[in-house]
Amino acid sequence: MIVKKIGVLTSGGDSPGMNPCIRAVVRTALFHGCEVIGVMEGFNGLINGEMSPLTYRDVGGIIQNGGTILETARSEVFRTKKGQREAIRELNEEGIDGLIVIGGDGSLRGAHALAEKGVSVVGIPASIDNDIWGTNMSIGVDTALNTIIEAIDKLRDTASSHNRAFLVETMGRNSGYLALMGGIISGAEMVLLPELEVSLQEVADTIEKSYLRGKNHAIIVVAEGASFRSSELSTKLEELDVGFKTRVTILGHIQRGGRPSAFDRLLSTRLGVKAVEVLLEGQGDVMVGLMGREIVVVSLEEATSRSRAANLKFLDMFMKVT
Ligand code: F6P
Repeated sequence: MIVKKIGVLTSGGDSPGMNPCIRAVVRTALFHGCEVIGVMEGFNGLINGEMSPLTYRDVGGIIQNGGTILETARSEVFRTKKGQREAIRELNEEGIDGLIVIGGDGSLRGAHALAEKGVSVVGIPASIDNDIWGTNMSIGVDTALNTIIEAIDKLRDTASSHNRAFLVETMGRNSGYLALMGGIISGAEMVLLPELEVSLQEVADTIEKSYLRGKNHAIIVVAEGASFRSSELSTKLEELDVGFKTRVTILGHIQRGGRPSAFDRLLSTRLGVKAVEVLLEGQGDVMVGLMGREIVVVSLEEATSRSRAANLKFLDMFMKVT
């Protein structure tokens, strides 16, 4: 089937780089003579028919902006059979013959569900968690890491002035990638990850050792999904008396915003261009991703078959340089 009208949506948690990706999709599709329809608020917009054409100018001036001009949502309705049926009906009514879904693991599973029902869909991995299988990097990860190190650099200033230990909580419900890499590149004393069990005593010993070495601060990066939440951990450390008083900073959603970094703008653009080309070649039910330095195409079945956990080899490296 020749694709002439492409729908594009962003879904799930937003990530910096979604806008440059939308821009690349729209302009590449127009370049190839297709029409582009922007779908608002992820799969919700598909179900409710909230969509309208996107022109070359509509995506002007957004390459440098975080967030997504199409807005996004975690759609509960779309998880139901009825929701998916309504989405397909709207796609058909609108005459959309190819769909590009920019989002994280849940969104890519949604894309795969549509593809199994006959829709030509190409997924683009976008999630600051970097937990998507089939790509080395997802859109937004690099910018989030830059936000994390900027925050930790600032926290270290105040930690050193007050002789304190800081527990810095990063996002990553199921993945410790941000905490691990953030810990390495900010020179933290320890990282706590969902992928690794660590005892309270080990955390206390690490902080106390830093104190005994004469350091004037300690930074512990705690992933959101680690076995301890940072506030609970802080209370326990105070009770154990580890030398430093502790403070907690939860970085939260600031990690999801901000101007996309150079890396994210380039990755988003490469993935957006490739996604359109893949659709025009007649492929559906696939995701485009980055492997090494190349943009590759993997089946959505493969990409959604498992999650990408943080690579614990980096933990060995972390132990050498901390
Ligand atoms: O999936 C990305 C993510 O950033 C997770 O790390 C985090 O747990 C979640 O989003 C937070 O989502 P919400 O914006 O719905 O609170």
